[in-house]
Amino acid sequence: MASLGDLIPTVNKLQDVMYDAGIDTLDLPILAVIGSQSSGKSSILETLVGKDFLPRGTGIVTRRPLVLQLNNISPESPLTENEVTSSRGDSSADHEEGEMSLQDHLNKAQGIVKDSTKEVREWGEFLHIPDRRFYDFSQIREEIQNETARIAGKNKGISRIPINLKIFSPRVLNLTLVDLPGITKVPIGEQPADIEKQIKNLILEYVAKPNCIILAVSPANVDLVNSESLKLAREVDPMGKRTIGVITKLDLMDSGTNAIEILSGKLYPLKLGFVGVVNRSQQDIQLNKSVDEALDNEEEFFSRHPVYRTIATRCGTRYLAKLLNHILLCHIRDKLPDIKAKLNTLIGQTEQELASYGGEATITPENRAGLVLQLMNKFATRFVSSIEGTSTEIST
Ligand code: GDP
Ligand code: NA
Ligand code: MG
Repeated sequence: MASLGDLIPTVNKLQDVMYDAGIDTLDLPILAVIGSQSSGKSSILETLVGKDFLPRGTGIVTRRPLVLQLNNISPESPLTENEVTSSRGDSSADHEEGEMSLQDHLNKAQGIVKDSTKEVREWGEFLHIPDRRFYDFSQIREEIQNETARIAGKNKGISRIPINLKIFSPRVLNLTLVDLPGITKVPIGEQPADIEKQIKNLILEYVAKPNCIILAVSPANVDLVNSESLKLAREVDPMGKRTIGVITKLDLMDSGTNAIEILSGKLYPLKLGFVGVVNRSQQDIQLNKSVDEALDNEEEFFSRHPVYRTIATRCGTRYLAKLLNHILLCHIRDKLPDIKAKLNTLIGQTEQELASYGGEATITPENRAGLVLQLMNKFATRFVSSIEGTSTEIST
């Protein structure tokens, strides 16, 4: 029996093999983070991952889409053979993922996030560097920088070719997000004159797709009517059905003012609502405040705030992570009939292709088309039937 917890990992696997096989017709769901420069997009992603790993700086730092696939793994993931020799070796942990419910996943991830004293194994992998695990997250940052420069140049150009990074960690919930260049109004320095248009077109490539969930980031210290992210989101999602508003920098609002009207959905209609967050400030980063400490401070900010404390359980990055995971699951569930129809077409085509190799063609992991077919079949039969009509609930 398939559980909701298995759904996202399977969709991820499906996405990988199809990418490898050069198939990109599935249009699987993705969460895209959009907002003006310095609105706090990268900060949110780092907090969701629980690590510092994104390039920092002024101007356009994100110059290629970064497709970030977060994979929740058990804290006792067995070591690979190569690692057994070089590590303290708790490799005896005989780990069987088993069938976990969404609730189990949420509880587990939450429990582990709070236990920052425990040493956890977590790493990143780039699609353009197969078979290499990055355990040092500062090297991930370097690689993103190098890989950005390799394709988009060393100056201020942008490229629509994405960088694909997977993070494996017991502290993350299963999510696929894409970080996009910040919306900019005026070219700076060596930026091309049409940079605003280039960036907008690139963002539109992602957010115009009906199966993209838009994470529209707006800083609280800028009037919401001037929010570039909400303006852009409205162009492709006029009814506000697949946009979630994220208000950053709540700590920087003028004293005596607050965003309670926005956060409670009274000011701007979005079906998925608004979530308020407080990320690390520039000073926090200079003082090397850790993500864990920042998360605790954020929770404290909301629970002690005279106005926000009434809605504190629905504020902050920890809540945002759970909400996004939940939205993604519901979204995939709602799209299952579409996905199923597309898969059936693809399965038919792949079977024909296999048959054309001759009657001998077998479905083995070494046989790529066979692997794709296996996964698609598994997805179509196991998940579609057992998840259609399931309801999920988010815990706070
Ligand atoms: P991006 O350009 O949208 O990716 O924005 P960044 O995440 O790089 O953030 C830009 C700057 O704003 C950084 O110096 C952050 O430390 C700071 N920042 C982001 N979010 C917050 C927040 O909620 N509060 C405060 N005080 N500073 C923030
Ligand atoms: Na914005
Ligand atoms: Mg950024």
